[in-house]
Amino acid sequence: MSVTYEGMIFDEYISRSEIAELVEHVAQRIAEDYADKRPVLICVLHGAMFFLTDLMRALPIDCSVATVHLQSYDGTSSTGQVRETIPLQTDIRDKDVIVVEDIVDSGITMHYFKQILRSRQPRSLKVAALLSKPSELRYPDAKPDYCGREIPKKFVIGYGFDIHDLARNLPAIYALREN
Ligand code: IMP
Ligand code: MG
Repeated sequence: MSVTYEGMIFDEYISRSEIAELVEHVAQRIAEDYADKRPVLICVLHGAMFFLTDLMRALPIDCSVATVHLQSYDGTSSTGQVRETIPLQTDIRDKDVIVVEDIVDSGITMHYFKQILRSRQPRSLKVAALLSKPSELRYPDAKPDYCGREIPKKFVIGYGFDIHDLARNLPAIYALREN
């Protein structure tokens, strides 16, 4: 199946059932590593909200949630700038923190955000991303500790991923058709 946004065609790329498997896999690994801990999951709004809620429900351990809004992306290409538009309100000192992100692309967002978080002295700091684009990674420290699936350089929408703030509500993930 395909969908059209702003004159661009996107083809289904990761089905709902595969997304559910990826989320379950990430949850299992986190559950093993944090069996005796109570991590704070930081949801990077708005892209990670679907992943965060599905991930939390798949986690059989005590955990809490916090939110932050980081803006680093404009349309289909990275602006190379990062803005903290809704700051984190939660005190993470001495907490086991897992940043939950939709995708790590160049890594600039996570590189920048991890520096901020480290200055607030969490006990531990990890990143869980549903997807990553290893070929695009420019900041090696931003490589996610937990990743659902690595994808090639593609622009994706759906399941939280947006194009100009639309298409997040598509239940599957679609990739931009390249001609
Ligand atoms: P990075 O800072 O270059 O790693 O980009 C990360 C951010 O860009 C993610 O949090 C996403 O919000 C956004 N992004 C990266 N790739 C895509 C994509 O294919 N579709 C939609 N958003 C994306
Ligand atoms: Mg994002």
